[in-house]
This record gives sequence, structure tokens and C-alpha cells, in this order.
Amino acid sequence: MPRLLHLTQDNDELFMEATDLFQETFRNSQTVQEMYVDSRPFIERTIVALHGTKVVGALKRGYNPDLDAISVDFLAVNKDHRRAGVGHLLLSELEKFAKERDNKKTCLFPRTNPEVVNFYQKRGYVFIPDYKPRWMEKVLN
Ligand SMILES: CC(C)(COP(=O)(O)OP(=O)(O)OC[C@H]1O[C@@H](n2cnc3c(N)ncnc32)[C@H](O)[C@@H]1OP(=O)(O)O)[C@@H](O)C(=O)NCCC(=O)NCCS
Repeated sequence: MPRLLHLTQDNDELFMEATDLFQETFRNSQTVQEMYVDSRPFIERTIVALHGTKVVGALKRGYNPDLDAISVDFLAVNKDHRRAGVGHLLLSELEKFAKERDNKKTCLFPRTNPEVVNFYQKRGYVFIPDYKPRWMEKVLN
């Protein structure tokens, strides 16, 4: 199983690896381009999964003030390491982080193919009624 690490300002090389993974996965994202220009606002919001010294998965969190919930802004696992529980591990770590800070919910907008919705539904995420289309949330207990 990979090792999880919450990045700090000292981890800029790992952050660049994570950014490359986000870039490869979410090609047209303006936010990912901003990460290359100035990493500081993003670095401490990123959790990486390390296989040895290599970043095999990464999650960038944010906060959604409308929902008062910690958000999954980007979650990506390297193609060669998918379906091995890495995505689940990163998501669980985010939920643990949220609970430790007394946040009651996590939320996200599934950015890619509709099948990824399965991945989230299996982990307790549901579509949010009366909100923007396709947004999902999980009440933490
Ligand atoms: C979605 C993603 C993060 C899942 O990571 P992962 O490490 O492969 O996921 P896990 O191994 O923890 O969980 C796998 C389970 O999720 C589901 N799942 C994952 N990816 C899926 C896909 N593309 N289609 C259908 N189901 C999928 C399956 O139910 C699978 O369970 P199974 O192996 O028993 O069938 C990864 O596929 C990825 O990086 N995708 C591209 C980027 C993306 O879509 N990110 C999420 C939107 S922000």
C-alpha cells in the first residue's frame, strides 16, 4: 500500500509531480495551470500517495462555502496504479482530515466520465438536491 503525505511548503518537488498528474488527467483546467505559476496557495492543500518516492495519486482539497463543506477539487491516480485502492485511500484521508477539523461534510463535482460517479457512490456520496447539477456530498459520521 502506498504511503500518504500531507504536503508542506518544503515538498515542492512532490507537489510538481502531483501537478503533472493533475495536468495529465484534467488537461484543460485553468486551476492546474495556475499551480505551475505559483504553487504556494495549493501546496498545503494537497495530499499525495507515494509508492517508494513516486507520486502515484494526489488529491487537492478546497472549501465550498455554500455547502460549508471540505471539497475534493482534484483527485487523480496514475493510470498504472488504478483499481488498487489508492483513490479510496486518498478520499478516506480527506474525510479524516475534515472530521478532525469538525467539518460535517465533504463534497465534490465529478469532473470526468460519468462512471466515476460509481466510485463516489460506493463511498457514500449522494447527489445534492436543490443545488448545482451533479454535485455530490457525504455527511461524515
Ligand atoms: C477515479 C479514480 C481517482 C479512482 O482511483 P482508483 O485508485 O482507481 O480507485 P480505487 O481503486 O480506490 O477504487 C476502485 C473502484 O472505484 C470504481 N471505479 C474507479 N474508477 C472507475 C471507472 N473509471 N469506471 C467505473 N468505476 C470506477 C470501481 O467501482 C472500482 O471498484 P472495483 O475495482 O471493485 O470495480 C481514478 O480512476 C482516476 O484518477 N480517474 C481519472 C480522474 C478522475 O476521474 N478523478 C475523479 C474526478 S475529480
